[in-house]
Amino acid sequence: MELDRSDEEILSGEYGETRRVMLEILIALGKIYGAERLIPVSSVQVSGASYKTIGDAGLEWLEGLDARAVVPAFLNPIGMPREEWSEMGIDPAFAGKQEEILTAYKRLGIRLTCTCTPYYHQIVQYGDHLAWSESSAVAYANSVLGARTNREGGPSALASALIGKTPEYGLHIMKKRLPNVIVSLDDPAAAKEWGPAEYGALGYVAGKEVGNAVPFFRGLRPNRDRLKALGAAMAATGAVALFHVEDITPEARVPFFKQSFSVDEKEQIEIAVSDVNAVFSDIEVNAVAVGCPHLSEDELRTVADLLSGKKVTKPFFIFVSQEMINEHRDLVTIIDRSGAHVYADTCMVVSPATDKLGSVMTNSGKAFSYLPAMCGVVPRLGTIEDCVRVATE
Ligand code: F3S
Repeated sequence: MELDRSDEEILSGEYGETRRVMLEILIALGKIYGAERLIPVSSVQVSGASYKTIGDAGLEWLEGLDARAVVPAFLNPIGMPREEWSEMGIDPAFAGKQEEILTAYKRLGIRLTCTCTPYYHQIVQYGDHLAWSESSAVAYANSVLGARTNREGGPSALASALIGKTPEYGLHIMKKRLPNVIVSLDDPAAAKEWGPAEYGALGYVAGKEVGNAVPFFRGLRPNRDRLKALGAAMAATGAVALFHVEDITPEARVPFFKQSFSVDEKEQIEIAVSDVNAVFSDIEVNAVAVGCPHLSEDELRTVADLLSGKKVTKPFFIFVSQEMINEHRDLVTIIDRSGAHVYADTCMVVSPATDKLGSVMTNSGKAFSYLPAMCGVVPRLGTIEDCVRVATE
């Protein structure tokens, strides 16, 4: 791999052992994937933040590192809200370990944003090279914003934060971003009425079909919240890090894309609307949780509007970033009055609080996929309207 002078200096140990090891991680990754050089990244999102997922081994590794981020770098959700963890039923021993993880990341210069939707609060521009690691954030950055990032693991993202670069391979290269499978519905008209939950269900079904391909959807007109739901679910049931929607997503509209790719020459997959509808069910649940990925302003407003003047009859968890709470206290107040809880910093999947719930209703195709394996709970998928109805009936 081509290395510049600053890379050679880091490798010689001039900037410390941690930086040397981190650069070696990036070089090893680059060699595996045939990268010719390292390229600068404009931001990094680091996953591996919940004590539930990284445990003592991860904490010990973090505490042994000694360097600071050289580019804007921010953290994925952790296992609890930083302020109201005891209200959420988090064990004090878990909270203590989680605090140690936060302290370790802070010492490394990682911003403690604790959200999987950093794009609501950070400027990300079309064509930016990033090193992000949370799968739904990666899918959104690549597909909806037109930025370029591979789906990094926690260690490689942290290495990029401390070095400021990533190996140039995969989705950093324009021709690797072209679609290789065309996806359509057997009844495209049905999607006209779909909200984020139905797009999440489509992603749940499509992810299993396309695996790690770059799908190109035809006949759909989703807005950004629906694109978020679609991408998050496909990243969960498949390994989709980039998708395109005809005439909607930014790269699907640029000349390079239109000239380099022919729909007719690609594999075609047709998804039955009945398979999408079959993801929904009406089983009894003990609790309701929304905000996977963390809610947008519009989604938070919808939840507040639906809960206004009502009282919940079962636990209702709503997950957002702390910035979203700070900017929309009026909406949070409406939700609080209903007895539902808005939590920042964490989510239904990475928090151990969900593990005790038994069965959970959600409007997220990604959460529907992860809740059984990560939390041992029976999931139910429903629209946001259904989630509020079930939580208040
Ligand atoms: Fe975000 Fe947690 Fe879902 S990190 S995408 S809310 S699993």
